[in-house]
Parts: sequence; C-alpha cells; structure tokens
Amino acid sequence: MTRVAHAGVGGWGKNVVRVAGELADLAWIVDLDEDRRAEYAARYPAARVTDSFTDALADDSVEAVLIATPVPTHYALAKQALEAGKHVFVEKPPAMRGEEMEELVELAREGDLVLMPGHLLLYHPGLRKVKELVDSGELGDVAVVYGNRQNLGVIRSNENALWSLGVHDLSVILWLLGEEPVEAVAHGIDRLQKGIEDVVFCFLRFPSGRVAHMHLSWLDPHKMRKMTVVGLEKMVVFDDMELERKVTVYDKAPWEPAQTYGEWRTRTGDIFSPKIPNDEPLRLELQHFLELVANGPGDHREALDGLAVVRALDRLTESLRGG
Ligand SMILES: NC(=O)c1ccc[n+]([C@@H]2O[C@H](COP(=O)([O-])OP(=O)(O)OC[C@H]3O[C@@H](n4cnc5c(N)ncnc54)[C@H](O)[C@@H]3O)[C@@H](O)[C@H]2O)c1
Repeated sequence: MTRVAHAGVGGWGKNVVRVAGELADLAWIVDLDEDRRAEYAARYPAARVTDSFTDALADDSVEAVLIATPVPTHYALAKQALEAGKHVFVEKPPAMRGEEMEELVELAREGDLVLMPGHLLLYHPGLRKVKELVDSGELGDVAVVYGNRQNLGVIRSNENALWSLGVHDLSVILWLLGEEPVEAVAHGIDRLQKGIEDVVFCFLRFPSGRVAHMHLSWLDPHKMRKMTVVGLEKMVVFDDMELERKVTVYDKAPWEPAQTYGEWRTRTGDIFSPKIPNDEPLRLELQHFLELVANGPGDHREALDGLAVVRALDRLTESLRGG
C-alpha cells in the first residue's frame, strides 16, 4: 500500500483523509489546529499527527502527499512537496496564478512526479456519462455548454465566487470540450465584501466556435448544481441536486428548414435518464491518484488539465477586474 501524508482536516479535508485512510497507508496527518490534531490522533492511532508539514515530508517512506488546506496555501505546500520528491494530490485550485501553476507542472515534469488537482467532478459517474455522450457523437455537434452553480452561501472571504465555485464548472467544461477558450469574459458584483465577488457571470468562446457560460453565485435563492450540454442532435442535463435522475437526455433538436416557409422546425422525441452508478466520486478520484503514483505520471494530463483551468481562471479574473 502506498504510504501517504495528508495535510488539512477541515470541512472538506475530513472527507479526503477518510478515503485516503481506506485506500492507502496513512502515515502522517498535518493540521495547524490543535483541537483537530487531538481529534485525529485519537481517530488514527497508527498515524503521526503533527503541525509540521516539513517533518512529514522528511519521512523517506512517504511516497505521496494529499493537500486539503485553504486555497492560498496550496501553491507553497505543493511546491515544497514536489521539491521533496513526493507525488502530490492537491485540492482545487493548486495555485491562484497561471505562472505559479506552470511552475508546479514544471517541477512535476522534472521530478517525474504525479501532480493531480482535485477536480472532483471529472470522477462523478453522472458527468462521465455526459462525457461519453459527447465523445460518442450521440449529441451531434455540441454548440453550447452552460453551468449553474448557485446557492445562498457558503460565503468565503479568501476567494471569490469565480475561484471558489467556478473552478468546478470550468474543469468540467474544458474536459467536455477538450479545448481552451480564445475568449473569456466575466462580469460580477461584490455586494457583501469589497473586492470579493459574490455573483459572477462568465462567457467563454472556443476555437471550434462552441461557447460556454457559467452562473456562479453564493447570493441566490436556488441551490443549483447543473450542467447543460446542447447538441444539434440531442441535449443532456446533469443535475447534481437530483437523487436518482442525475442525467437526463432530451431527444430534441432543431430540424431541417421547412421548404415552404424557410423556417427551422424542431423535433421532440423521448426524454430518458440512463442508470448512473452510485460510486463515490472522491473514492474514484483518489483511486485514480494512487494508480498514477503506482504506474507513473505518464503524459501529466491531470497536471496539464489543472494548468488549463488556472489559466482560464486568470483570464476571467482579468476580465472581471476590467482588463
Ligand atoms: N472538491 C470539492 O468538492 C471541495 C469541496 C470543498 C472544499 N474543497 C477544497 O478543499 C480545501 C479545504 O477546504 P475546507 O473547506 O476543508 O477548508 P477548512 O478551512 O474547513 O479547513 C482547512 C484546514 O486546513 C488547516 N490548515 C490551514 N493551513 C494549514 C497548513 N499550512 N498546514 C496544515 N494544515 C493547515 C486548517 O487548520 C483547517 O483544519 C480547499 O482547497 C477547498 O477549495 C474542495
């Protein structure tokens, strides 16, 4: 079993460490909070629990590190771990600037190490089904993809709605379309905390001509976690708020222009929900990370996907700030 060190056992990190403890040999747990350290020392008596990330990295038997600390700490911790020769899984986004992410990817390449950002949704069985429908051509030419990620809260203070919420949808959109945007425009408002946008609308245009949109907000009455893909043959909606019908395929599309009137007609057929396995995305994600650790980073696809996401976030931020 791969020996791992885990950093950050907060709101989300507690899930990551739980699954890591099931799939790997959890040798170290690092957190700056004393109460959390006491809780985890009792829960995982076989692990060393510490506030020193450096001590965990100094253990030569540790092959890989998982980082689930707050976003502003990711780049420095991931860099330190890569420089110590460890494979790295780091929650999204691994860096807050494109140049920092490029540096991490370079370090991973030089050291032949895995650098995998926590793009959880790419491991969601529902979105895997959507990807399959896009790649198989069943939807026809994809024209538009748009994401809705809205709720009232969680209101963050060290990142805005674009970086906190948008990273999820952006990772999915870039993965579904397999290209990086040529145009990235964002507008938003910072009503609750100055300089931290609560509501952001983003528009992306891709080299193929396809476009995408994201509505990101923690100031909204609807709890929405939705991704819609509009193909010219079929359309599909992924809705993470649905318990059973996560994916709905609409056999509807524009139809041949009517000869007589010169107007487009539309075609409406069946609406169906394929069966989606109930596997936990986080488990699938960490299984993939451990497979990469065992087999090598290959073409560094995961790290490069992470770079594309941070690059797009950078450009959207520039647009948001009026650049
Ligand atoms: N994939 C997902 O669906 C998902 C969901 C929520 C959060 N996240 C990500 O997970 C990460 C953590 O979020 P959270 O909500 O758990 O945050 P949190 O604030 O609840 O917890 C962070 C923990 O890290 C500890 N910490 C801070 N600095 C540290 C350091 N230098 N070394 C070791 N420990 C340190 C804190 O004491 C705290 O226990 C963020 O990057 C967030 O974007 C991912």
